Amino acid sequence: MSLLQWKDQFALGVASMDKEHRDLVDAMNRVFELDQQQAGKQTVDGAIQRLMQLTVKHFQDEERHMEAIGFPDLQRHARIHADMLRQVGEHYAAFQKGDGRVAKSFFDFLVHWLAAHICHIDRKYADHGAPVAGKK
Ligand SMILES: [Fe+2]
Ligand SMILES: [Fe+2]
Repeated sequence: MSLLQWKDQFALGVASMDKEHRDLVDAMNRVFELDQQQAGKQTVDGAIQRLMQLTVKHFQDEERHMEAIGFPDLQRHARIHADMLRQVGEHYAAFQKGDGRVAKSFFDFLVHWLAAHICHIDRKYADHGAPVAGKK
């Protein structure tokens, strides 16, 4: 069982970003699977760290992409990323202090992030960078 299945509505039509979003979904599902299997704390820790590394890289790449297409709301989007990284860090710190199981609130945060951030926040730069014939 996975935490989250990739849905067509997550696709933005920006190949490089879609690929990274898929990798993030995979990394989240990996953490979920290991937690379900009651894997050792170190193993789960490694999977969370991998997810965090991918997230940091994705945000950097995404901010570079927005800069390249002249997206006007880059600063605000970057602040949302920074806030999300802070929250991931807090969830990770709580995990490290705990017994090796991942809190439901951490998974809720990850799922909400994908559904809301990709579909609404990331969608804005995708629409901005879309060909003129596109919507809006
Ligand atoms: Fe984003
Ligand atoms: Fe993104």
